[in-house]
Amino acid sequence: MIKIKSSAELQKMLRSNEIAAQALALAGRSIKAGMSTWELDKIIHDFIVSKGAVPSSLGYCGFPNSACISVNEELIHGIPSKKKIIKEGDIVTVDVTTLFDGFQGDNARTFKVGTVSPNAERLMKITEEALWKGIEQAVAGNRVGDISAAVQQHVESNGYHVVRQYVGHGIGTEMHEDPEVPNFGKAGRGPRLVPGMTICIEPMVNETTPDVKVLSDKWTVVEANGNLSAHFEHCIAITNDKPMILTLESH
Ligand code: MF3
Ligand code: CO
Ligand code: CO
Repeated sequence: MIKIKSSAELQKMLRSNEIAAQALALAGRSIKAGMSTWELDKIIHDFIVSKGAVPSSLGYCGFPNSACISVNEELIHGIPSKKKIIKEGDIVTVDVTTLFDGFQGDNARTFKVGTVSPNAERLMKITEEALWKGIEQAVAGNRVGDISAAVQQHVESNGYHVVRQYVGHGIGTEMHEDPEVPNFGKAGRGPRLVPGMTICIEPMVNETTPDVKVLSDKWTVVEANGNLSAHFEHCIAITNDKPMILTLESH
């Protein structure tokens, strides 16, 4: 069931997502070669708590930390670790979720550490562009498939691959609500978008294959060939006008 949010609920969504966006921006400013992903997680955790919010990934289905931090071939759900040291040239995906005043916030971004390969640079650029192509379609009257098709088209026409096993989602009082928002599909298909729907659009893009594997830690999802992957996510609201980006640092 898709839950339509009232304007009071949208205000609450906005506040939670602002904190998620601020935490993600802080993570981006804080990432440095030599730092462990555990240290980066701690910075994110402390910031979220300082805002009176809860890092909603912590304990979600048993996830052990506050942020998902995924390096290079790791696509999503990387578990922060004191043993995982970030190096110059890495690309690091940080995914931050928050619970504030009963509502969830969720956003992600792949960051570069120092100078990265032209390949990595291009993968990140195409993935972020695909997110914006998807957002452009997130208008009342369109269908979820219009978002999906726009993301897939941009990714595949640039020679990369969209992951099928994991998808974007509705969001509200729960981190994951209906509808599913796949990064693949056909325009004109799927649920109709109506004002008051809040969804996370999150292209997950692999360099050489749409396939993924889950590591033995049961969480970390990697590019099946061990090549690079990137992930960008915004939480948005459908309005009577342009999509409203909820995951901005301020409104
Ligand atoms: N933030 C993720 C998403 O975009 C969900 C992470 S759940 C966790 O849907 F348990 F892995 F943290
Ligand atoms: Co997320
Ligand atoms: Co999400």
